[in-house]
Amino acid sequence: MELSGAIRRRRMVRAYDPARGVPEVVVDLLLEHAIRAPSAGFSQGWDFLVLRSDVDQDRFWASTRQDPDGEPGSWLRGMMTAPLLVVCLSDKDRYLDRYAEPDKGWTDRDEARWPVPYWDVDTGMAGLMMLLTAVDAGLGSCFFGIAPAKHPAFRAAFDVPTSRTPVGVVSVGYPAPDRRSPSLRRGRRPVTEVAHEGRFGVPYRPAETPTEPAG
Ligand SMILES: Cc1cc2nc3c(=O)[nH]c(=O)nc-3n(C[C@H](O)[C@H](O)[C@H](O)COP(=O)(O)O)c2cc1C
Repeated sequence: MELSGAIRRRRMVRAYDPARGVPEVVVDLLLEHAIRAPSAGFSQGWDFLVLRSDVDQDRFWASTRQDPDGEPGSWLRGMMTAPLLVVCLSDKDRYLDRYAEPDKGWTDRDEARWPVPYWDVDTGMAGLMMLLTAVDAGLGSCFFGIAPAKHPAFRAAFDVPTSRTPVGVVSVGYPAPDRRSPSLRRGRRPVTEVAHEGRFGVPYRPAETPTEPAG
């Protein structure tokens, strides 16, 4: 599949065919592509927690769901059918260490130097690599977050050190019919609204947009 096809076909899938697991070669490929993501200073401050057994998945949902004793809602029922979860963890210290090296020289490890938390940015980019790889392999996927209040329980359940932040989770599987997100009703903001040319507020004009009124 061409890259543009994968980009255009990608959408978040929130229910999966429980009868079909993710082929092992695809799991390998997801991770191989994740580590191809760019990273500031080639710091590669990410870890990926792969959860595919029933035991691991039950532990994941029990530790992260808002109401462990209540009936799962439709979102959770759908997501719990995912045969594969990959938790994307960022590692800030690896960036601070990397940028304290002589070629960067930020030996004070001052976080105020960072335009934004690149450790989270890069880990998110790795997640996108997995989302696109899933589409390319004919599967569906979704990126979702773990509520901050649940981070301690999640860490405890999987021995994740406090130095790691769960940036998000990529669920993967063969798609089952699901309900599109109500968020999509807001529509995609067009390029002419979000892209500015030369100066903020001057809309970028795509090549196919006529610059003169026709006739
Ligand atoms: C950082 C991030 C966090 C997200 N968190 C959730 C989430 O917790 N639950 C969920 O169902 N979707 C989540 N999404 C998916 C968005 O709702 C989705 O990308 C958006 O509605 C556009 O739909 P599409 O990706 O299918 O085109 C998240 C997406 C991103 C990029």
